[in-house]
Amino acid sequence: MNNTSPIGFFDSGVGGLSVLARFRKLLPNENVVYYGDTVHLPYGNKSKEELIGYAKNILDFMQTKGVKAVVIACNTSSAQAYDTIKDIYQIPIYPIIQTCAKVIAVNNYKRIGVFATEATIKSGKYANELKKYNLNIQVKEMASKNWVSIVEKRGKNIKDDILHIKDEIEEMLEFNPDKIILGCTHYPYLMNEFIKYAPRELFIDPAEIFAKYVKHDLDTKNLLNKSNFLGEDEFYVSSNPKEFVENAKIFYEIKNPPILVKSIT
Ligand code: DGL
Repeated sequence: MNNTSPIGFFDSGVGGLSVLARFRKLLPNENVVYYGDTVHLPYGNKSKEELIGYAKNILDFMQTKGVKAVVIACNTSSAQAYDTIKDIYQIPIYPIIQTCAKVIAVNNYKRIGVFATEATIKSGKYANELKKYNLNIQVKEMASKNWVSIVEKRGKNIKDDILHIKDEIEEMLEFNPDKIILGCTHYPYLMNEFIKYAPRELFIDPAEIFAKYVKHDLDTKNLLNKSNFLGEDEFYVSSNPKEFVENAKIFYEIKNPPILVKSIT
């Protein structure tokens, strides 16, 4: 393993590609191994035990690929699995929630809203992490209804699905938040809906903060790839490579077809 080794990314499916897209802007020279655990999609309604098991298998797989660091691009997995797996492996592991909460909390915000999947909200992870760094911060966490599936439908037959977004945003606005964290990989892609009911500046896309932090941290560890060539992507999925490529279009341009990996699940 050295600084030209790839960075591993994983998520339940295509959602983490939204995170990878933000990273690519800042880290174009890095090689990437991306694992979409599509056979277990969605993570948002899985138990903690299940999510820990998936994360361990994926980290073991990442080690066989010689990665220098792993980015947990999935909020749900960061919330439910990271604390248990973090000390098992020797490489740096970056979970999206814990990393972003640390950066957001020091901004002296008084009230923060969080939208995320049911499993993430159940964990209370965003609130706990924000309060670790800012004792006085108040946090309102809301599990949004079907936002992941709205994004994945890519504009088809969503007319009825999107009706309650207004109510959900308005319920959050009653809390009068300084900022609202979009705590799920898919949610930034609903921004055009959100801004019908609240100003754009109110929303935080954590992946942007995340990419900045990881770049800086890899640099301090002397792990940045200083090559002048563009990095390569390698994609792995645990089921349905074709569907993955189709759904990926929302988030990221997939040039190399994903490889189906069955043995780790
Ligand atoms: N990627 C997941 C997250 O960020 C959302 C999709 C899912 O539930 O699997 O929480």
